Amino acid sequence: MMMENTTEQYALITGASQGLGKYLATELAARKINTILVSLPGQGIESLCKEIRNTYGVDSLAYESDLSVNGNVMKLARWVNENYSVYILINNVGIGGTSKITETDVEFFNQLLQLNVVATSVLTHQLLPNLNKQRQSYILNVSSIAAFSPIGYKTAYAASKAYIHSFSRGLYQELKDSNVMVSVVHPGPMPTNEEVILRINKQGILGKLFLQNPEKVAKTCVSRLLRKKPIIMVNPFSWLLLNILPICLKTPLLTKTAYREVMVGK
Ligand SMILES: NC(=O)c1ccc[n+]([C@@H]2O[C@H](COP(=O)([O-])OP(=O)(O)OC[C@H]3O[C@@H](n4cnc5c(N)ncnc54)[C@H](OP(=O)(O)O)[C@@H]3O)[C@@H](O)[C@H]2O)c1
Repeated sequence: MMMENTTEQYALITGASQGLGKYLATELAARKINTILVSLPGQGIESLCKEIRNTYGVDSLAYESDLSVNGNVMKLARWVNENYSVYILINNVGIGGTSKITETDVEFFNQLLQLNVVATSVLTHQLLPNLNKQRQSYILNVSSIAAFSPIGYKTAYAASKAYIHSFSRGLYQELKDSNVMVSVVHPGPMPTNEEVILRINKQGILGKLFLQNPEKVAKTCVSRLLRKKPIIMVNPFSWLLLNILPICLKTPLLTKTAYREVMVGK
């Protein structure tokens, strides 16, 4: 890991080796923004950084760490704060899944809460003094349309994304007169990896109705973040639908869709 003090400003993205995080990283680089990319060890993040440096002529640094361990989140924050000026923080890392709660491995359950809720909150808290030092800073938290309704069989995931929505909106209010802008994005299903594609296919019509291209989502996110939009709805149709439907209708409907995911192929 490189240790150097620099006067350049950086964007930090968690979960950047693949999926939405990777597209966000390249979109920022295309806009000539230096990046610090974080992912699990052994996932090729250094070669992505090299590709970005060569293609876009900006700096891109790799940091490998398992953020499901809270001590590692603190270590990352310390390393960043001691060495780099960060003016964009994108809390993208997050995992999901569909299963009966009694059949969910407790390790996975803990990991989900740590990655989706704790890592985002702690990293934001620890990086705020750094973000505050910059003339203008931006935080983007990645939630989901799952934030807008409780969903059985995705119970912890939907709850974690509702937390991210609430955390981001609260922080936006708290910091709105400061130099730190806080935004939250609510993507629908995106075919980002094999596991997600398998799950979307099992969802039937609803999954396909909300489907979004992660590259397009990343472009929209960056453009609206830099235009200081506090809530980024990448699919207004799904947002409208989930806001119109009363909870007594949408929760059973979405739970039924999630149940299909659990049962198809069993
Ligand atoms: N895909 C969807 O349908 C969808 C819909 C709505 C919202 N979202 C949200 O969008 C965000 C990105 O989703 P995605 O589908 O692009 O995810 P993804 O393809 O699974 O990528 C997840 C990223 O997080 C990293 N990661 C996973 N576990 C980690 C850990 N323990 N420590 C550090 N990094 C870890 C992965 O790194 P490695 O490659 O090193 O494992 C990868 O870079 C998530 O917050 C997700 O909840 C996704």
